[in-house]
Amino acid sequence: MSVADLTTSPVTSTYTKTSSRLHSSQLSLSSNRLSVHFSRSPRPIPRAQNFKITCSVNQVPAPVAVQTEEAKNKSECFGVFCQTYDLKAEEETKSWKKLINVAVSGAAGMISNHLLFKLASGEVFGPDQPVALKLLGSERSFQALEGVAMELEDSLYPLLREVSIGINPYEVFEDAEWALLIGAKPRGPGMERAGLLDINGQIFAEQGKALNAVASRNVKVIVVGNPCNTNALICLKNAPNIPAKNFHALTRLDENRAKCQLALKAGVFYDKVSNMTIWGNHSTTQVPDFLNARINGSPVKEVIKDHKWLEEEFTEKVQKRGGVLIQKWGRSSAASTAVSIADAMKSLVTPTPEGDWFSTGVYTNGNPYGIAQDIVFSMPCRSKGDGDYELVKDITFDEYLRKRIAKSEAELLAEKRCVAHLTGEGVAFCDLPEDTMLPGEM
Ligand code: LMR
Repeated sequence: MSVADLTTSPVTSTYTKTSSRLHSSQLSLSSNRLSVHFSRSPRPIPRAQNFKITCSVNQVPAPVAVQTEEAKNKSECFGVFCQTYDLKAEEETKSWKKLINVAVSGAAGMISNHLLFKLASGEVFGPDQPVALKLLGSERSFQALEGVAMELEDSLYPLLREVSIGINPYEVFEDAEWALLIGAKPRGPGMERAGLLDINGQIFAEQGKALNAVASRNVKVIVVGNPCNTNALICLKNAPNIPAKNFHALTRLDENRAKCQLALKAGVFYDKVSNMTIWGNHSTTQVPDFLNARINGSPVKEVIKDHKWLEEEFTEKVQKRGGVLIQKWGRSSAASTAVSIADAMKSLVTPTPEGDWFSTGVYTNGNPYGIAQDIVFSMPCRSKGDGDYELVKDITFDEYLRKRIAKSEAELLAEKRCVAHLTGEGVAFCDLPEDTMLPGEM
């Protein structure tokens, strides 16, 4: 992705495709080049002329031009975020951390519209962590993407140092340290589930390749676009140079939903519910684990004596919550999904509280629960807060839990066979169980 080169003469009309960024480390290395510091001084104006420059410090009028094919494929800084900042000087007083690059696909969509403002506000990474947002949209959504960037400008977030927008993942994902893959096609009327797996799988295969080519070697990837577990598997298979462990499928929304229902039933506030695992697929086969979850530190089954409710009503309510919500809203959950993405990220960048854990869909190789290898399955994890995680070992299973987990596992193995052409594992064969659906499919 290109942002303007930092030179001693910050105002220039020359656009260079060097990748100078506002990393504090780079700034100190090249401090001689920055001997003339202008706080929030203007960045060079890109020659690619497909953006309106709004709110720019020098009020440079944007040249109007026809968007060329080449320009369309570029990812460019947006408006006020094309200005240079004197991070070095600010660091002396503020001790900012090194700028973190966060790429978001589906950035013009509803989920992103909630999430981006959380990321920019410091809610996820903390008040001393400057953020660069790299927003991936499509040709169709490009104007909306500009609208999103304009709203980010107008929000004056002190931590938001760069915003760039583009439609080419090979540009947008460059040096990404986090990739939040939200954009996916919703299942249309009459579309077979196998068709959805194929269409979205192709998107995630391409994005996996792009991450493999240009992202940070330790990029953390959270796949949100459905069917997210199998999309995450496709993505990681297409990114062999990135550790498979770094790929997640979002099941935190399901965890949050489960906590909410247990708290309601027990008559406690949701912060009293802990150790909540969602096992398996983000689909109606997912298993909200009430055997290991706790309320006020006690096993759920000791607090909620109505075990029939736990096995039937509670489980189904969590599994189908997304669908009920679609019926009410006329569209998928957006705000609560964004909150859960932020929660999932926070769980990886802050140490997990003693004795607790969180759920995330991760690659199963080496899991201690006997779950099939080589799929992406939601399991209980803990983190030291370094972006990494480990699977929790002390988990109890009973027959009910094992049986439910096996059903979700079978579904994911079937999904995997269905996308073999996208994971490099041969010819696809689709024998998906008919009675399982995405949470939104009722
Ligand atoms: C949700 O759980 O709310 C969504 O994944 C539902 C859907 O199918 O979009």
